[in-house]
Amino acid sequence: MLQSMSLMVKRGPENNQELFFKVLRAMLFYIDEFPEKQHHPKESTLLFPFIKARSARISDLIDKLEIDHKYGEYKIRELEHLLIGWEMLGDKKKDEFTHLATQYINFYMQHMQLEENLIIPEALEVLNEEEWETLDAEFALNQDPLSPKRPRQSEYDVLFTHITQLAPAPIGLGES
Ligand SMILES: [Fe+2]
Ligand SMILES: [Fe+2]
Repeated sequence: MLQSMSLMVKRGPENNQELFFKVLRAMLFYIDEFPEKQHHPKESTLLFPFIKARSARISDLIDKLEIDHKYGEYKIRELEHLLIGWEMLGDKKKDEFTHLATQYINFYMQHMQLEENLIIPEALEVLNEEEWETLDAEFALNQDPLSPKRPRQSEYDVLFTHITQLAPAPIGLGES
């Protein structure tokens, strides 16, 4: 979703303003609803405390990622608001949105890379089987359309498909 959002921001409205705003609004809403409200809280309340209880090796990094989680929701709301500003007030808001959207995408990509490269390997090393079972059960409830274990047709699944169909090709399957 982040990659597609980045491509949409770079592409700009071209000759279809209405579609551009519709797609970006849906993408921002998806990110706000799914990772910010479902994924991050589970990391903050389960995964991070589990690791911290067993190892202090990466506690500084965990503190940094916690701060990211704390501000992530605010940042995505700010972007949603700025996009409406651009749509309502015109192109003078374009640069501000584009700048902050690019910043947010980089911020988020870096966050995910740190989790993949440093948090997950540490978790694999220090957590026990019972803790993994708890984590698996909780994260499986997220219904991420990108997860291989997803239950079909959750509302996020429907939203994700909708965005894919709407986004102009080659970003999505919609009319370019
Ligand atoms: Fe996270
Ligand atoms: Fe994460």
